[in-house]
Amino acid sequence: MDKIRIRGGKALHGTLPISGAKNAALPLMAASLLTDQTLTLVNLPHLADITTLANLLSQHGVAMHMNGHASNGGHTGRVVELTAKEIISTTAPYDLVRKMRASVLVLGPLLARCGQAKVSLPGGCAIGTRPVDLHIQGLEQLGAEIELQEGYMVARAPKGLTGTRILFPKVSVGATENLLMAATLAKGETILANAAREPEVSDLAHCLVAMGARIEGIGTDTLRVQGVPSLHAATHEVIADRIETGTYAMAAAITGGDIELLGGRMEDLTAMVAVLRKAGASIKPTENGFRVSRTDAELKGVDVMTEPFPGFPTDLQAQMMSLMCAANGAAMITETIFENRFMHVPELTRMGADITVHGASALVRGVPRLTGAPVMATDLRASVSLVLAGLFADGETVLNRVYHLDRGYEHLEAKLAGCGADVERIKGEE
Ligand code: UD1
Repeated sequence: MDKIRIRGGKALHGTLPISGAKNAALPLMAASLLTDQTLTLVNLPHLADITTLANLLSQHGVAMHMNGHASNGGHTGRVVELTAKEIISTTAPYDLVRKMRASVLVLGPLLARCGQAKVSLPGGCAIGTRPVDLHIQGLEQLGAEIELQEGYMVARAPKGLTGTRILFPKVSVGATENLLMAATLAKGETILANAAREPEVSDLAHCLVAMGARIEGIGTDTLRVQGVPSLHAATHEVIADRIETGTYAMAAAITGGDIELLGGRMEDLTAMVAVLRKAGASIKPTENGFRVSRTDAELKGVDVMTEPFPGFPTDLQAQMMSLMCAANGAAMITETIFENRFMHVPELTRMGADITVHGASALVRGVPRLTGAPVMATDLRASVSLVLAGLFADGETVLNRVYHLDRGYEHLEAKLAGCGADVERIKGEE
């Protein structure tokens, strides 16, 4: 297995291109199941999670054709054509679904198009129990019959789905996306209330509109969908990854550097921008993105609580904790979205961090220095938080279990090295 070695202590300077958003790309790829025509996605990132979903979609009958690279404002990504001319299987098997929870996003589209679907329950996950009850309840409200059989959700809607008003009891990105896709082909009007407003949900909605769906209220917590009999071909560009952007913004802040994030969208990160400014970073829009610097200001402790969009994202919580380890003063970091999402704490502590966890909150007392150590990643965002800590720490940090990082960060070492970081991948045996 590969490792990443970082020799810390260097301020990062330069420009860094942001890739297409993983969490936007996954539902967009699933949306290809809704039509027999070709969906062309531009700026698709090259990541392990994308390959995992591509494998699942191809066994459902989606033909994929890669069409080289697109270049836009300094960031590049692949162009992929997805065509689900015929659905050859409506079953999403355990072996593929267990690799990635987002596989459950095929349920809504398969049910809407074929009137049936059998999708494995995703199972446990390193950052909490993460149920799928909201997906199931929503689809049942659209008229589906869903039974749980031997670890599978077996869903049927022989007469098709019918629109209704669905009020989500809790904000869920995935459930909103699944229901939104299903509603595009349901009869009549579906109202999704207390819907997630994350930019990835809006990106999906814009793509569905380009495919012929009728959706109002995009970007708000109430989505109104008028069902249509079928969707058609479209070309859609995946938005820039706000979590990758935020991660590298914090890399600039923690090292006392200055990085321009090409393609980065400040409007998708208002909560984080406010927090980083309070912590002492300067953030300014540029022609092609924005720039984050902290060349002479001191890093200060700032309290943070994760919330659904537009609040501070849970997917940046671990990285924020590393940043606060380097601050002058203390910070209280509270996680409200997922239980059990502080697994980076013991690893940061091994590097010299001073962190006390009380339930869903972590009190981080900044320390003058961290020291490099061999560390182990437990999930995607936890691993990248250890990379940030390693960039700040004295000496050498070796990150094990890099496959977590490869699920969500494209060319991480090359992007950081391009800004002057001393970082390299050590190839391991398979
Ligand atoms: C998506 C993101 C993930 C991010 C999360 C929250 C993708 C592929 N993943 O995950 O990176 O951390 O949003 O921003 O886009 N819940 C239920 N029942 C359900 C569904 C969710 O109780 O049926 C709970 C979850 O356990 C969690 C909360 O709702 O506590 C939010 O989860 P959700 O927004 O659904 O996360 P995902 O869509 O899985």
